[in-house]
Parts: sequence; C-alpha cells; structure tokens
Amino acid sequence: MPTRAVYPGSFDPLTNGHLDLIERSLRIFDDVIVAVVTNPGKTALFGDGERVEMIREATRDLRRIEVVIFDGLLVDLVARVGAQAIIRGLRAVSDFEYEFQMALMNRKLREEIETVFLMPHEAYSYISSRLIKEVASHGGVVTGLVPPGVEKRLTDKFPRR
Ligand code: PNS
Repeated sequence: MPTRAVYPGSFDPLTNGHLDLIERSLRIFDDVIVAVVTNPGKTALFGDGERVEMIREATRDLRRIEVVIFDGLLVDLVARVGAQAIIRGLRAVSDFEYEFQMALMNRKLREEIETVFLMPHEAYSYISSRLIKEVASHGGVVTGLVPPGVEKRLTDKFPRR
C-alpha cells in the first residue's frame, strides 16, 4: 500500500525550512499533500490563493506532491485523503510544547493517524514565517531564506528602502 502524509501549516509565507521538510518527507512517504490552512487569523499577510501559489511555484520540479487548501479539522482531511501521517517540523525545544499538544489532541481525535516530526537542516533552524515577515517589512534582505518567488512577493509588498 502506498504511504501518504499530510504536511499542514499556515505557510504565510513558505520558507526554505518548509521546503527542506517537504523534500525530507518525500524520502519517507510515497506522496505528500501540503495542506494550507485557510484564513490562519487576521495577521495573515498573504491570502489563501497566494500561499498555495507560492508553494506550487517552489515545488514545480518535485513529483509526488500536491498542494491543497483546507479548513476544518486537520485529522478529517488526513482521513479523507487516505493518509497515514501528519508531518510537522521541530526546529528547537521551544516548538515542542505546542507540537506535543497538537499531536496528542490529533491522536485523541483519530488514534490511527501518527504525527511524524522532522528536523529541518540546521541552516534553517532559526527561520520562521513570522521572522521573515518582520525582517521583510522593515526592508531587510531575506535572500536564501525563502524561495525566489516568495522573496519577489515580499519585496512587492514591502519595497526595499
Ligand atoms: O503553520 P502553523 O500555523 O503552525 O500550522 C498550524 C496548523 C494549521 C497545523 C493547525 O492550526 C491546524 O491543524 N489547524 C486545523 C484545525 C485543527 O485541526 N485544529 C486542531 C489541531 S490539534
């Protein structure tokens, strides 16, 4: 039976850390569905469509992945698409508590679904979408931290001074 995982997130915006995790997931699973949560809160910089588009652009050369948008419970999506696992990234100890709670809640909701934690390459361990937005909003350079298409969109939104 082919193995399938769902990699969910806000991806506001996609970073090279996310991309690294997508590639690592593809080494373990036959296919990976990147699931972009709709409306991740009023602080979202990019709209649903834009976030999906940026991921599609950056993963154009990758086979065995699909990008979808979702709302509602993550475990329901995982069951609906016939996946066995949820992928989440762990960068530092500070990620642990939130991830631990989510993983156990998701297990409570559907115990047959496993959460698999992957560590991004250490070069990306300090990157988060929140910091990328903060740096870009002040005109800082984020080259090498996000895919080129994301960087372009950030400079369109926040022209460099
Ligand atoms: O990138 P993020 O913001 O850390 O991703 C969080 C996400 C999308 C994985 C989480 O908020 C989520 O699963 N939302 C869907 C609603 C849901 O199932 N909530 C219960 C999770 S225990």
